[in-house]
Amino acid sequence: MPIAQIESLDHEGRGVAHVDGKAVFIEGALPGEVVEYASYRRKPSYEKAHALRVLRASSQRVAPPCPHFGTCGGCSMQHLNLSGQTAAKQRVLEDALWHIARLKPEQIFPPIAGAGWGYRLRARLSVRYVASKGGALVGFREKHSSYVAVMDSCAVLPPHVSALIPALKTLVEEMSQPDRMPQIEVAVGGARTVLLLRHLEALAPDDLDRLRHFADAHGIIWYLQSKGPETVTLLHPATAALPSYELPDFGLDLLFHPTEFTQVNNGVNRMLVRRAMALLKPQAGERIADLFCGLGNFTLPIARLGAHVLGIEGSAALVKRAQENAMHNGLQTRCEFAVANLFEATGESVAAFGTLDKLLIDPPREGAIALVNALPAEGGPRCIVYVSCSPATLARDAAVLVHEKGYRLRGAGIANMFPHTSHLESIALFEK
Ligand SMILES: C[S@@+](CC[C@H](N)C(=O)[O-])C[C@H]1O[C@@H](n2cnc3c(N)ncnc32)[C@H](O)[C@@H]1O
Repeated sequence: MPIAQIESLDHEGRGVAHVDGKAVFIEGALPGEVVEYASYRRKPSYEKAHALRVLRASSQRVAPPCPHFGTCGGCSMQHLNLSGQTAAKQRVLEDALWHIARLKPEQIFPPIAGAGWGYRLRARLSVRYVASKGGALVGFREKHSSYVAVMDSCAVLPPHVSALIPALKTLVEEMSQPDRMPQIEVAVGGARTVLLLRHLEALAPDDLDRLRHFADAHGIIWYLQSKGPETVTLLHPATAALPSYELPDFGLDLLFHPTEFTQVNNGVNRMLVRRAMALLKPQAGERIADLFCGLGNFTLPIARLGAHVLGIEGSAALVKRAQENAMHNGLQTRCEFAVANLFEATGESVAAFGTLDKLLIDPPREGAIALVNALPAEGGPRCIVYVSCSPATLARDAAVLVHEKGYRLRGAGIANMFPHTSHLESIALFEK
């Protein structure tokens, strides 16, 4: 078997080595390690491989505590301790900014990190019923496969949700068409745990009773989805209120529908919002825009700190929710909201927002290239806080802000929103 010395980690958490001049991306290998590996994909310029044996181990290697590590596709970095994961993500961010944008932040912000386990308040659990294999499987997909991993617990889910997995398997097995329900979504908000069952056939009255009984026995709320998102309905308890999450630093409580976007890790989100506000420094008398505002996660803290805020978002349902959240928290007089497709932003549409002192931008993975291109090179907002879930698009957009629009990259840092995965959340400050 070939042997490699690992030089670094790539953005997917794989060890990177060069063997005879060819890059090899090795799952399960860490920087500084010497490993024996087997390739499962060979291309002319690179190979992808699994580590078979670690011949010299990194001091940051830990025994993965989860029994499903290696099979389950949910977490791929459990063999690296948490501080090593944070450092690796920091490096991915700095590399992206340098290689894509030729930028070095003036300051690296201290990483934001929280609990390593039990953090995942939202999840999509796959469901498979295979009578020949002994019944139902409920869990995450296996690595590189559409099979569902065999699991009875999951340590990144909140403990009370993890403990439901065996009961959910039994429930699926008892349903009259167990092979016609492919997915259960989980959304935890405050004291409420919502399970959303995707079902492909109408549910029989007995099945609905089973679901109601399960909800009462386990203290959860069932929603059902038979077809597209418009078919999502509350089943039981019929009077259940919406889940919500709190931002205690700002005295806020944000309501959400289970299908609406919320940050997955509430502990890290609280720190991220606090960091964003510390950088943005909203003040009375300022007019600030929160672009890609969702249900108001950053908009309402900006308003709470005294500024007037304009929240823009592509989803009409989320804009309505943000308006309701502004009312719910008594902030409606300082907030305005509008629906707009920000991927189609132009100089004219951005000018129509009116004069803005500062911006907060929190786009999806695709980034905000149309928006940053539409900003004026002269004048315009003097400060931009950019929250990103993709270092590559952050770097691409940062290049425009710095090289074309006259901003300085004052600082950047990461938030370990998804410990044990390679997913990277980051925050950057641009100022004129
Ligand atoms: C990463 S989420 C951030 C939401 C919010 N800032 C938060 O922290 O909860 C990105 C948001 O961008 C919205 N979005 C996606 N594509 C969009 C587009 N083309 N125009 C405007 N908003 C869009 C999504 O609906 C989502 O709410």
